[in-house]
Amino acid sequence: MTTRPVHIVPSILSADFANLGAAVRAAEAAGADAVQVDVMDGHFVPNITVGLPVVAALRRVTRLPLDVHLMIEAPERYVDAFVEAGADVLTVHVEACRHLHRTVQRIRELGARAGVALNPATPAVMVQEIMHDVDLVLVMTVNPGFGGQAFIESVVPKIEQIRRMLDRAGREDVPIEVDGGISRTTAPRVVAAGASWLVAGSAVYGHPEGVEQAIRELREAAVGQTGEGDQ
Ligand code: DX5
Repeated sequence: MTTRPVHIVPSILSADFANLGAAVRAAEAAGADAVQVDVMDGHFVPNITVGLPVVAALRRVTRLPLDVHLMIEAPERYVDAFVEAGADVLTVHVEACRHLHRTVQRIRELGARAGVALNPATPAVMVQEIMHDVDLVLVMTVNPGFGGQAFIESVVPKIEQIRRMLDRAGREDVPIEVDGGISRTTAPRVVAAGASWLVAGSAVYGHPEGVEQAIRELREAAVGQTGEGDQ
C-alpha cells in the first residue's frame, strides 16, 4: 500500500495581511510543507483577497512550494501568469472551468503541478475523467470564501470515495488535499478517510501558542492516523 506523507499546508488567508512575508517565513521555520495562497475574485466566491503581485512577492521570501488555490471564474485566463509569478501547485475548481482537461494540461506544460478542487456539494464523479491527468485533488471541507468556518462532516465519505477512485485508476501517488475547518480535531478523520495534504488557516495563524506549536499539533494529530514516523 502506498503511504502518502502528510503535508501540513498553512493558508495565508488567516495570516496578518499587513505582514504576509513574516507569516510565510514563520510557517517555513516551523516545518510547513507548503503554503497555500487563496486567490479569490469576488465572483466565484463572495470574497476578494490577493492575486499575482502577492504570489510574486511571496515567491521571493520562501523556498516552500507555493500552493495557489484559484477561487476565480474562468481560471484558464490566468494560469500562465500565476505559474510565471511562482506557483508550484496551481489548483482550479471543476465548477469554474469550461475546458478542465485543457486547463490542467496547460498547467503541467508550464511545469507546475495541476490540482483540481471540488466544492462541498460537487460530487466525486466530477473528477472521474480528469484523474489520470492531475497531480492533486482538493476536496473543500467548507464552502470556499472565508477562513474560520465549521468543518462540513458530510464531505468525509466523498474523501473516501475519491481515494478509492484514484487508487483504482492507478493514481495511488496522487494526494487528496483537504481545506476548511482542518484542526487537530478534524485532521485524524480526514487522514483516515484518505487525505494527506492538510490546509489549515485559523488552526495555524490563530493558534494561541503560535505557528510552530500549531503545525506540530496538526502533524501529530494527522500522523497518528497513518503510523508514519513509527520506529
Ligand atoms: C477557504 C479557503 C481556505 C481557508 C481555510 O475559502 O480556501 O484555505 O483559508 O481556513 P480555515 O483553516 O480557517 O478553515
